[in-house]
Order: sequence, then C-alpha cells, then structure tokens
Amino acid sequence: MKYYQVHSDLNYLNLGCGYRFDSEWTNVDFVSTGKDVIAYNLAKGIPFADNSFDLVYHSHVVEHFAKTSATSFIRECHRVLKPQGIMRVVVPDLEQIVRLYLTALDKASASEQWAANYEWISLELLDQLVRNGRGGEMAVYLSQDEITNKEFITERFGSEAQKFWQSKHQRDRQSKSLLRRIKELGMNFPQLLPQPLQRLYKAIKIGYYRQNGETHQWMYDRYSLAVLLETCGLEQIVLRTATESYVDNWTSFNLDTEPDGSVYKPDSLFMEAVKPKS
Ligand SMILES: C[S@@+](CC[C@H](N)C(=O)[O-])C[C@H]1O[C@@H](n2cnc3c(N)ncnc32)[C@H](O)[C@@H]1O
Repeated sequence: MKYYQVHSDLNYLNLGCGYRFDSEWTNVDFVSTGKDVIAYNLAKGIPFADNSFDLVYHSHVVEHFAKTSATSFIRECHRVLKPQGIMRVVVPDLEQIVRLYLTALDKASASEQWAANYEWISLELLDQLVRNGRGGEMAVYLSQDEITNKEFITERFGSEAQKFWQSKHQRDRQSKSLLRRIKELGMNFPQLLPQPLQRLYKAIKIGYYRQNGETHQWMYDRYSLAVLLETCGLEQIVLRTATESYVDNWTSFNLDTEPDGSVYKPDSLFMEAVKPKS
C-alpha cells in the first residue's frame, strides 16, 4: 500500500469525513470533497504508516462496512494510531432507534403524530440497510409537501434535516429540467434489452450502488461497539456525549457540534478508546 504523508503537525485523522472536516487535519473520503481531503477507498486499508496519529476520528462511517470488514477497518485505525493515541467513533445509535421504535409502536394507533413518528423511526431502523437506490424511502418521506412530525425528525437528524428541506426547492427545479428528462429517457434504455440482460443490468446497478458507501451494512449499540473496539486491541473504552472527549477543546473543531453549540447528529452514539502503550 502506498502511504500518504500526515497533513500537518496536528496528527489528527478524520476518516470518511464527507463535507465535515477541519483543514488542519488529515482527511480522507471515497471522493475528495475539498482540497484538504484525500480520495481513497478505506475498504483497501488506511493509507498511512503505523503509529502516525494522536487521534483517529470517524463519524457515521463504520456502519457502512460489512460486519467482518468493520473489524479490519478498526484494526487499521489501531495500526495508524500512536501508542496512547485516542480513537473517537460516532455511529447512529441502534439502541436509541430500537427504544424509540418500541415507544412509537405502542403509541402509533393512538395519535396521528405517533403514527408519523412510527413511520420515520422504522425508516431509520431499516431503510439505509435495505435501500437499493440513492436516498431510499427516507428521501421520499422527507420530500412530502406536508410532514406532520418535522419537529421529531429535526430532533433526530439536526441540521441535516433542515438542509434537506432547504434544498427541496432546488431539487424540484432540477427534476423538471430538460437535461433531467433526457437522462430519464436514457435510463429507460434497459427496457429495450432482452429479459436476462435486463436482470443483469439491474443486478450490476444495485451492486454498484450498494458499494458506494451510502448504505448501512451493520449497526451498533453501546455494547457491540465497545466489543468491536476491545477486539481490535483498544482500551479505556468510554461512552461520550457530543461535547465530552479525551481530546482537549474537542468542541472547538465543530465536528460533533455546530458553532452554536447544538449537536450535529443527535441520533448518534459517541465512544472513545485509547491504544495501549505497547
Ligand atoms: C454518512 S457519511 C458521514 C460523513 C461525515 N463523517 C459526517 O459525519 O457528516 C459517510 C461517509 O463515509 C464515506 N465512506 C463510506 N465508505 C467509505 C470507504 N470505503 N472509503 C472511503 N469513504 C467511505 C462516504 O463517502 C461518506 O462521505
């Protein structure tokens, strides 16, 4: 594997950063989302030398790896961490989702509000695991003109839900554009193929989509995530909030929190661990 250089004196690494990164850190994602982001497929390993970083952080990333690949990924995180280095992992909290699902199930028949909450939390539990196309059923739900439980969704998804609604107008415009219609015509082309080729085309399309990093391949709670970290050789495993950390001035990086102090992804489980001295 070709190793990259650590970006700056601040030996902090953000993996699967998406658009959420600090320019002083070393940042990696499938595709480069800015000049300070290295494009690399982390399924192939982490492209840095052993013992390179004081902190390895990833938010809403490990659930995108299949269960066995997740173990290899966390082992790689352990490898690139310096002894006594800190690992901070953020994932959607399966326990929180399941508890809310059960509450919503009990209340769904009694009120319209809880029926809507039931629908939303079922999507959180299942949609990203099973979807075969961009945005899945969640995007369909969020795109409705009338949403009765916007407050509930915002409590779960924070600023991300707001951003989705703010960009709805732009998406509606794009969907009506001529270019979009031409693209749709092209997409209907497979219907002209013989049946076996249509099935092959569909299988390849789904396969490509499911490997692009959007779907969840597994989910974690405070028990299974701690077991995963321990299995990969990490210790001093602790549950955190968005603001608590072994890292000094954690909130100043605005990764798990927004500049106004609110939590970026309130549906999250935050956990930290340390690489042993030897
Ligand atoms: C849900 S987004 C989270 C982005 C960001 N960390 C955040 O919290 O907003 C998951 C990110 O992981 C990236 N990702 C998933 N699998 C990856 C892989 N194998 N290699 C590199 N990046 C990957 C995706 O491209 C995406 O940007």
